[in-house]
Amino acid sequence: MNQLAQFDAWSAGQNYEQYMGRWSRQIAAKFLPWLAPPESARWLEIGCGTGAFTAHILGKCAPRSVLAIDASKDFVAYAQAQVIDQRVRFETADAAKLPAPDASVDVVASALVLNFVPDRIAALAEMKRVLRPEGLLGFYVWDYPGGGMGFIDAFWKAAMEIDPQAAELDEARRFPFCTRDGLAKLCREAGIAATVEPIGIETVFSDFEAFWQPFTLGAGPAPGYCMKLPEDQRADLKAKLARKLGAKGPIRLVGRAWAAKAIVNG
Ligand SMILES: C[S@@+](CC[C@H](N)C(=O)[O-])C[C@H]1O[C@@H](n2cnc3c(N)ncnc32)[C@H](O)[C@@H]1O
Repeated sequence: MNQLAQFDAWSAGQNYEQYMGRWSRQIAAKFLPWLAPPESARWLEIGCGTGAFTAHILGKCAPRSVLAIDASKDFVAYAQAQVIDQRVRFETADAAKLPAPDASVDVVASALVLNFVPDRIAALAEMKRVLRPEGLLGFYVWDYPGGGMGFIDAFWKAAMEIDPQAAELDEARRFPFCTRDGLAKLCREAGIAATVEPIGIETVFSDFEAFWQPFTLGAGPAPGYCMKLPEDQRADLKAKLARKLGAKGPIRLVGRAWAAKAIVNG
């Protein structure tokens, strides 16, 4: 495995929900009206995780069917147990090899995933392959380089102060393409003329403990790193963050994603 991806821990569904799923749901609720998908569409969702975005598609977009895939068997099992709907089918699969025939879906969508996919051009080519002519493609990623995922940004900045090696694990450094221009360029390279816009939420933590606790659950890159730290360093990191953010709440931080959409012709 790529060393920088060593803490990309995608297995404990409940823990992921506390760390990211709850924010993912909020951004999904803003993204889908912006995407403006047709009703009765056949959807393919890539990287469904615990089903946060899937549930919104089912609840808000009146799809005919949703095939939701993820590389993590554990997350697929979790999503299957949580999202009960006759229109959805969950499958373990990779973005590089989608389990769907050519031109067989109307909408391909993906939430907070593309940065974790090693070959993004190949993944976009797969998305184009499965989309019917004039099909709709939409995805979003956090604005890591712009500090747009405030709690993750605060975590890595403090982590670097106690461990300089944390710098290369910081998603801002790992995923420099997660900007307006970066997404537009990536899409252009994949032969897709996309519109890219920011979508924002506010992440609010009632107090510092509420901010810190999800990092101790090990689900996701920063929590995975946090729980691999020796106990004394973890305590040091916690104290640093508490000093920066204030021990009392509420702690309000920005949550900004870059969203891309395009009508695609195979
Ligand atoms: C940050 S989570 C996003 C999950 C969900 N879409 C959400 O909005 O909460 C990233 C997800 O991408 C999945 N993933 C990473 N690389 C993948 C790949 N190459 N193919 C399919 N899924 C992948 C992970 O297993 C994880 O569930």
